[in-house]
Amino acid sequence: MSRATERHPAAPDTAASQGLYRWRAGIYDLQLAPYDAIRAEAIATLQLQPGQTVLDLGCGTGMSLDLLQAAVGPQGRVVAVDQCPEMVDEARRRVQRHGWRNISLACAPIDQAVLPEGADAALFHFTHDILQTPAAVDHVLAHLRPGARVAASGLQWAPAGWGVFNGLVWLAAMHSVTTLQGLGQPWRALADHGIELSLQTHLGNTVYVAGGCLPASAGGRPGRHNRG
Ligand SMILES: C[S@@+](CC[C@H](N)C(=O)[O-])C[C@H]1O[C@@H](n2cnc3c(N)ncnc32)[C@H](O)[C@@H]1O
Repeated sequence: MSRATERHPAAPDTAASQGLYRWRAGIYDLQLAPYDAIRAEAIATLQLQPGQTVLDLGCGTGMSLDLLQAAVGPQGRVVAVDQCPEMVDEARRRVQRHGWRNISLACAPIDQAVLPEGADAALFHFTHDILQTPAAVDHVLAHLRPGARVAASGLQWAPAGWGVFNGLVWLAAMHSVTTLQGLGQPWRALADHGIELSLQTHLGNTVYVAGGCLPASAGGRPGRHNRG
């Protein structure tokens, strides 16, 4: 077994991820600032409307909160969740600093988070480990209304012809994810739930932005939204 495989076993590792982001929390905003345009693009694909409820899964230090809270407005709601206490502390400070009142923050693994029923949209921005956790994806999609919009973005292995960039993907992944599983098609779990995704790629095909809607008549968890 290679060292990379040892460090990145198939399933995401909660403790390893918390350890990773504990030390990154204080510098995370600086590290991610160059990718603001990709964040804005991912959020735009949600097509948020005033009054809607949007979930920010793996919200980190809350770098998406400004755009999200502005898009849903004072009558809307942003529910942001992350499992790393130090990242959530940063997000909480950001919310307090700006006096945003339409945001609730929680520290929990996504699959155990208390989420509102029937949310209008969900953002997975640079949250590969969450997308590779079936219980987390099921849990989120089960809390969305039929037709809800979903956006996911993050690192991916560059396809054939662009492989020269995959060293950079590997390097970035070593500092941000605990599994390399699924990096070829990171959005796959969403597609498997019937979400038809439109896909954009950036930075030599190493970063993707995927957006789509839950089926209008059937929810993310088979049968759930078919009731009644
Ligand atoms: C690369 S950061 C992205 C943060 C934020 N979405 C952003 O765009 O800046 C990944 C975040 O996902 C969180 N995370 C990873 N796995 C998680 C899980 N299973 N449940 C909740 N948060 C998780 C980490 O703690 C980390 O803050």
